[in-house]
Amino acid sequence: MKFENIHGVQIPKIGFGTWRIGGKRSVDNSLDEISMQALQSALALGYTHFDTAEFYALGHAEELLGNAILNSKISRDSLFITSKVWLDHLKYDSVLKACEGSLRRLKMESLDLYLIHWPNKLIKLEETFKALNQLVREGKIKHVGVSNFNLKDLKKSKYLCETPLFTNQVPYSLPENKYVKKGVVDYCKQNDVLVTAYTPVKFRNLTVNKTLKSIAEAHGATPFQIALAWLTNQPRVITIPMSFDPQHQKENLEAADIDLTADETQTLNQLYPR
Ligand SMILES: NC(=O)c1ccc[n+]([C@@H]2O[C@H](COP(=O)([O-])OP(=O)(O)OC[C@H]3O[C@@H](n4cnc5c(N)ncnc54)[C@H](OP(=O)(O)O)[C@@H]3O)[C@@H](O)[C@H]2O)c1
Repeated sequence: MKFENIHGVQIPKIGFGTWRIGGKRSVDNSLDEISMQALQSALALGYTHFDTAEFYALGHAEELLGNAILNSKISRDSLFITSKVWLDHLKYDSVLKACEGSLRRLKMESLDLYLIHWPNKLIKLEETFKALNQLVREGKIKHVGVSNFNLKDLKKSKYLCETPLFTNQVPYSLPENKYVKKGVVDYCKQNDVLVTAYTPVKFRNLTVNKTLKSIAEAHGATPFQIALAWLTNQPRVITIPMSFDPQHQKENLEAADIDLTADETQTLNQLYPR
């Protein structure tokens, strides 16, 4: 595994996403068994960064993740846990309450990273950051970040955050370059804000793209691994693929060890219209 060293943290290039664990926009108990199995195999394979949110299955993803970690007997200190406050909870009191809820469901005393899941134009960032900064001072969260933030809100967040703003979690993959075009990815890379690339492999044509396939074959890898390696080869970029399948989880974890040549990177940069 390769790591990013940033703001005193060594964070793995590949973490584990939890969207669909325990449901999507609502609780789906029929998914509990496969969700627990997915979390248990991810922990056993050696994933240490888990990305969750109060929004995922209305908190049930956090609950299941907390259970899986407790059952695993893996020490809390060896893991890096990210959760997110939903956009309806960005007023001062609501942020504090939302964080308490996440900690309770995760059965943890603190979060390593707490993100504003989406911006909300109706609530001033000053108010939200007042609560987030307080949570850091109280030791309930160690680092603060944002998600789905444009350049203007990102810069403002960096200014308002009393500790170095840790990350902006955005959709970023071979075909997805919205945040590159907005100047967000470059700004992050140049200003020590980690880019956490979400939805890194869920796109059409991934398995049928001939160029991707030939680069994959050259590395004895799958096209999914090359899509992940294209991200992990970039400085200041980490990613958080999600899979229920232990074999896919293993392959995703191993993708961080693939070194792409300059030519391959150049080819991949030009693979989709950017
Ligand atoms: N901040 C935000 O607003 C936001 C938004 C979306 C996502 N996220 C975070 O980002 C995480 C990842 O994004 P995502 O779940 O949308 O998409 P993703 O991880 O790019 O793709 C997940 C899909 O890809 C498949 N897959 C994964 N690895 C594979 C492999 N090696 N080979 C073949 N298929 C593979 C999975 O199927 P199998 O289960 O069959 O492997 C699943 O259908 C989420 O879980 C969540 O934590 C954040």
